[in-house]
Amino acid sequence: MNPKELAHPTNTSFSEGMRAYSSSKLCNLLTARSFSALDLAEKKDIKVIAYNPGLPPGTSLMGKPSPITKVIMPLFVYPLLSLISIFRPAFSRNIPSRAGEALAELALGKVTSPTGRIYASLVKGKITFPDPSQLAQSNDAKDLLWRESAKMVGLPDKM
Ligand SMILES: NC(=O)c1ccc[n+]([C@@H]2O[C@H](COP(=O)([O-])OP(=O)(O)OC[C@H]3O[C@@H](n4cnc5c(N)ncnc54)[C@H](OP(=O)(O)O)[C@@H]3O)[C@@H](O)[C@H]2O)c1
Repeated sequence: MNPKELAHPTNTSFSEGMRAYSSSKLCNLLTARSFSALDLAEKKDIKVIAYNPGLPPGTSLMGKPSPITKVIMPLFVYPLLSLISIFRPAFSRNIPSRAGEALAELALGKVTSPTGRIYASLVKGKITFPDPSQLAQSNDAKDLLWRESAKMVGLPDKM
């Protein structure tokens, strides 16, 4: 999907919505990488971090839950996630207050990222700095997104 389609979606089906959502998270990471590579970031010693709160249920992200969702989530989805998280810890649930606290710790510099790491991910309540996906590490994708985004908001593509 190109950045223009992401910014102005025409297909509003659930699957396309999920694709746009996950692409938007990828764009966050690619944009964070572009920001952190700016001369200005180095000059002013600005640390850029892309933060993933993991899976904190109970926020307003999904809108107002329907009565069915209220039943399905604790009965099926949460137990399933707990099972999956045994093998894939990134799928474990985090408490929203801990997700916010961890974000504050990063923003205030109470927790700092190892050199060269800009992706922070909350796993079982702990801030980790894993490798982002291969696509998020692509310089071509990063530069294309930056160029297209600059065009869309009328900025020069070099800053
Ligand atoms: N919850 C999860 O499981 C989860 C997992 C991974 C990543 N994330 C990501 O974490 C971020 C926050 O998610 P959340 O679960 O906390 O969602 P949320 O409860 O819906 O919170 C979204 C927040 O963003 C604010 N907001 C929305 N549009 C805005 C705008 N145009 N300008 C300024 N503020 C705006 C909202 O403000 P108002 O309250 O004033 O509307 C609200 O405080 C999202 O990017 C989400 O994709 C969430």
